[in-house]
Amino acid sequence: MSDKNKVAIITGGTRGIGYGIATCLANKGFDIVIASTNEKAAQTSAAAIAKEAGVEALGIACDVTQQVQIDAMIEQTLTHFGQIDILVNNAGICPFVDIMEIDEAVFRKTLDTNLTGAFLCTQRVARKMISREKGGRIIFITSLCVNVAGATLGDYAASKAGMHMLMKSFAIALGPHGITCNAVAPGMILTDMTRHHWEKPENAEFIKGRVPAGRIGTPEDIGNAVAMLCSDESSYINGVGLIVDGGHQTVCT
Ligand SMILES: NC(=O)c1ccc[n+]([C@@H]2O[C@H](COP(=O)([O-])OP(=O)(O)OC[C@H]3O[C@@H](n4cnc5c(N)ncnc54)[C@H](O)[C@@H]3O)[C@@H](O)[C@H]2O)c1
Repeated sequence: MSDKNKVAIITGGTRGIGYGIATCLANKGFDIVIASTNEKAAQTSAAAIAKEAGVEALGIACDVTQQVQIDAMIEQTLTHFGQIDILVNNAGICPFVDIMEIDEAVFRKTLDTNLTGAFLCTQRVARKMISREKGGRIIFITSLCVNVAGATLGDYAASKAGMHMLMKSFAIALGPHGITCNAVAPGMILTDMTRHHWEKPENAEFIKGRVPAGRIGTPEDIGNAVAMLCSDESSYINGVGLIVDGGHQTVCT
């Protein structure tokens, strides 16, 4: 795939990692669709990216737990751009509630957003990619919680491990159509989701001591990994989970 005039949808791309991914892809020449629950934020972010990178960018309201909204977002994208080349399943939540205390409703919402949302978006976008017969790339933003968990991460870790295996199932189903599916598993990245934790001085010190890279990750670190998996050079990479954590998970103590 050439990087020019290709169209990438990033769910939850208004801020944080999603915005970093959208920026990196736009800087490679991709036109961008930011699909998020907050329509105004989606449009504002899209306008900023279009201005900075000189590509076309659309902001569209879409709650990834709602199939009707996903279908409408896809139709709007196709009406405007005529094609979809990339889907990045980035939208996600992490309530940070102890697994022994968490309400059923909160547990279900995490699974619904992170796992079912990625399933619905992938299935619907992949159907359009298949009928266009030009292949495509689908990236799942998972987490270090595919491999490790925590008492306040039970719902989140279950959803992300589920996403990892969902990605592999889609990789098998879509490979024959020239569509690759891969995951990027971020380590600790400074965003609105994690700011409350990492901005505490003691935790910032922990990062320096624990992560071989000596720093917390940025949304651009993840965006660069996604852009690599969307490049022509990555066309034979399929069904892989790429850990992007500055070496954090290689440390044994
Ligand atoms: N920050 C980290 O350290 C970290 C680490 C590993 C994985 N991740 C993953 O990266 C992704 C982005 O996280 P972030 O840190 O940028 O968080 P964030 O909270 O800053 O951004 C999440 C985005 O998802 C959107 N969103 C939430 N629910 C949605 C829904 N139902 N439909 C559509 N959009 C929805 C939000 O509006 C927001 O734009 C998430 O999937 C998260 O699990 C983050």
